[in-house]
Amino acid sequence: MVEIKLIKGNCLDEMVNIKSSSIDLVLTDPPYNIANFMKNRDTNLVKMRNNFFGDAGWDELSFEEWRDSMDLFFKETNRMVKEGGAIVIFMSLIRMETILKLAEKNGLYYKTTGIWHKKNPMPRNMNLQFINSVEGWMYFINKKKTGTFNNQGNAIHDFIESSATPSSEKKYGGHPTQKPEKVFAWFIELLSKPGDLVLDPFMGSGTAAVVSKKIGRNFIGIELRDEYFKMVQKRILDKDAERNYSLIVVDKDNSDAK
Ligand SMILES: C[S@@+](CC[C@H](N)C(=O)[O-])C[C@H]1O[C@@H](n2cnc3c(N)ncnc32)[C@H](O)[C@@H]1O
Repeated sequence: MVEIKLIKGNCLDEMVNIKSSSIDLVLTDPPYNIANFMKNRDTNLVKMRNNFFGDAGWDELSFEEWRDSMDLFFKETNRMVKEGGAIVIFMSLIRMETILKLAEKNGLYYKTTGIWHKKNPMPRNMNLQFINSVEGWMYFINKKKTGTFNNQGNAIHDFIESSATPSSEKKYGGHPTQKPEKVFAWFIELLSKPGDLVLDPFMGSGTAAVVSKKIGRNFIGIELRDEYFKMVQKRILDKDAERNYSLIVVDKDNSDAK
């Protein structure tokens, strides 16, 4: 039976309660520290996109505050992840070098920088500049140089392509930066084994939780914002009969939570 644990709160406070050397894979998509940068450049995004993430309020930190929060995230990651466990972190391309330095400082072994290409991005300013259609990801191993890599003898390129998140995955409202299940499934299948424990400390709408449940991985997720935390629960409870699982919800603000 798959165990899913959802924790509402600030992951920088909550991760300290997660057991040392207990996690097989961290797959996460933290704030990219680009909302203020983009707003200050007056890119007209707010007018063009109703749910622009820059206005969502969770990517507001100064560069220094964000860098310090990522430093703490990697320190805890190094403690929580097993030796040989994997870490995949999505990131804006302009912040990749900072992520690499912080990860190495905290004992993670750098493996790969890759790209997620969105096949149908919004064609913003297409007659003026390149359309923004990629996000980056970095892959690390904790305290060792190699870990689980289920390539089945196939050559796996450092590149994944998909359509933007389909509306069928957003039926409970969606999240401004919600990742497609296909993209997260690719990493979880490749970098973990059935029954392993996956962690996403910046869970958003819970894509990592939904995929972990579907493909038989145990899961712990943390999310700060109540509206997204409720969305994750709805997504997990959907199609209940699909897999035998247990759900633990830790929400100190909501007494009726399980
Ligand atoms: C880029 S989004 C993640 C989207 C997610 N991958 C999905 O598919 O829906 C980042 C999320 O991290 C949350 N967040 C930001 N800072 C946090 C913190 N300190 N602790 C927990 N969650 C945080 C935000 O509320 C936001 O939902």
